[in-house]
Amino acid sequence: MLWHLASLILFFLPLSSAAWPNTPFRTSGRWILDATGANVTYVGVNWPGHGEVMIPEGLQYQSIPAIVSKIKSLGMNTVRLTYAIEMIDQIYANGEADVTIGVALFNALGRTNGSKALEDIVRNNPGFSSTTTRLQVFDAVVAECARQEIYVHLDNHVSKAGWCCHPFDGNSWWGDTYFNTKNWIRGLGYMAEHAKSWPNIVSMSLRNELRQPYTKPNLYQTSYNWETWYSLSRLGADAINAANPNALIFLSGIDSSTNLSAIAQGLSLTPGSETFSLSSFHYADKLVLEIHTYDAAQECAAFEKKLFNLGFQTLDGSTAKNTLPLVMTEFGFLQSNQTYKNVYVTCLGRYLPAQRVGWTIWVLAGSYYIREETQDYDETWGLLSHDWSTWRSPEHIEEGLKPMINASLKVESPPKNSGAFMSGVGGARHLGWVALLVSVLGMVH
Ligand SMILES: *[C@@H]1O[C@H](CO)[C@@H](O)[C@H](O)[C@H]1NC(C)=O
Ligand SMILES: *[C@@H]1O[C@H](CO)[C@@H](O)[C@H](O)[C@H]1NC(C)=O
Ligand SMILES: *[C@@H]1O[C@H](CO)[C@@H](O)[C@H](O)[C@H]1NC(C)=O
Ligand SMILES: *[C@@H]1O[C@H](CO)[C@@H](O)[C@H](O)[C@H]1NC(C)=O
Ligand SMILES: *[C@@H]1O[C@H](CO)[C@@H](O)[C@H](O)[C@H]1NC(C)=O
Repeated sequence: MLWHLASLILFFLPLSSAAWPNTPFRTSGRWILDATGANVTYVGVNWPGHGEVMIPEGLQYQSIPAIVSKIKSLGMNTVRLTYAIEMIDQIYANGEADVTIGVALFNALGRTNGSKALEDIVRNNPGFSSTTTRLQVFDAVVAECARQEIYVHLDNHVSKAGWCCHPFDGNSWWGDTYFNTKNWIRGLGYMAEHAKSWPNIVSMSLRNELRQPYTKPNLYQTSYNWETWYSLSRLGADAINAANPNALIFLSGIDSSTNLSAIAQGLSLTPGSETFSLSSFHYADKLVLEIHTYDAAQECAAFEKKLFNLGFQTLDGSTAKNTLPLVMTEFGFLQSNQTYKNVYVTCLGRYLPAQRVGWTIWVLAGSYYIREETQDYDETWGLLSHDWSTWRSPEHIEEGLKPMINASLKVESPPKNSGAFMSGVGGARHLGWVALLVSVLGMVH
């Protein structure tokens, strides 16, 4: 009985005690709120795990805690962790057992380089061995993020594992060479189910950068449109929501996640005449829009206007037809000592915090196990150096990125006790609950 009382109190307590991560998140208009009702702004980085090996990158050079500590040292709160549907396809083909990293490295890198990479990964991460599975590596990355209080947004980046994205790569659109719709839905559901036990999973995407399937002209002509986007995005979102109703679901537009105007402006989802209807989703308070931008902007005001028309309008309650939260899940650039001073970067550095829009920069990786057939590929856009040990451009980190992170996180939320459940309940009452809990636990011990 006492234990029942104690667990009842424990059940209610997190709503008022601000225990990180305060999940589940939900949306309210253009805001993302945590379970206490406080605004949450995603500020983070992309950590790829969708390459040919199908595990998070960098572990042949550093330990997971060392990498997560680098992210944490910036003050970031989110990792956008990417995966390939092929990983789940292989699990089903293998009697629902995941492939070991020994096998995955061998398959992707060949015998000699694969066993060398395995040796390096295990040396840096002694909890692993050749029989550790790929999902166990994802689990370990996520667990360390949780330990360091970093949220995880899980992103389906591709179907067939490998570098993304261009319109000729076979991964572009439902029905493209490698993009099997049924496998995609199965994969989203599988990952939503798997990730449900991660304490810090807050959201999942449907698909990275949907784009023109140019190698299939007939598919492009008949299917590359907003009508298809709407019906199939709904199926994917349903699959995630059915497996994990707590997760936020990120919807991207078409044209490589650059254009959400049809949603923001409530335009007809052509060639049909239906329009996007938030209230038609039974989990309407779980939907978030995501947008990417890679741009040779020359002038900030013009760039901002362009971004507004491409999707930021959704934040503007006075003109948008559909108001949803928005997160810029990708922008990125060469990590030199100069590029971060470009209009594109400095403009986003001001605009995103000013709009109170969250973001995850592309990309953490200093190198990849393999990319586009080159092993140990150097990532010149990586925040980290080739061996993931230091920042590639310390100037960018100090003068560009850190101030942008601070500016994005700066605005304080209202006091925690104004959350939904506790609304109107003062701090004294809150203390009363804690006192009761302490006394109950005291009696039990
Ligand atoms: C979120 O932040 C905005 C801007 O500061 C503020 O207007 C709004 O009230 C906040 N909402 C909550 C629930 O904190
Ligand atoms: C193995 O790694 C070495 C050194 O990184 C590289 O030169 C070689 O091309 C790799 N082998 C294969 C099969 O890619
Ligand atoms: C964005 O999409 C809308 C509607 O689909 C289209 O009319 C517009 O031309 C697009 N804008 C850009 C810059 O591609
Ligand atoms: C940036 O400049 C510093 C010296 O100021 C240098 O050590 C570093 O290698 C440079 N980084 C790049 C990416 O050019
Ligand atoms: C960011 O904010 C932290 C804490 O408020 C502060 O210590 C740090 O100096 C700030 N850094 C920058 C680059 O603004």
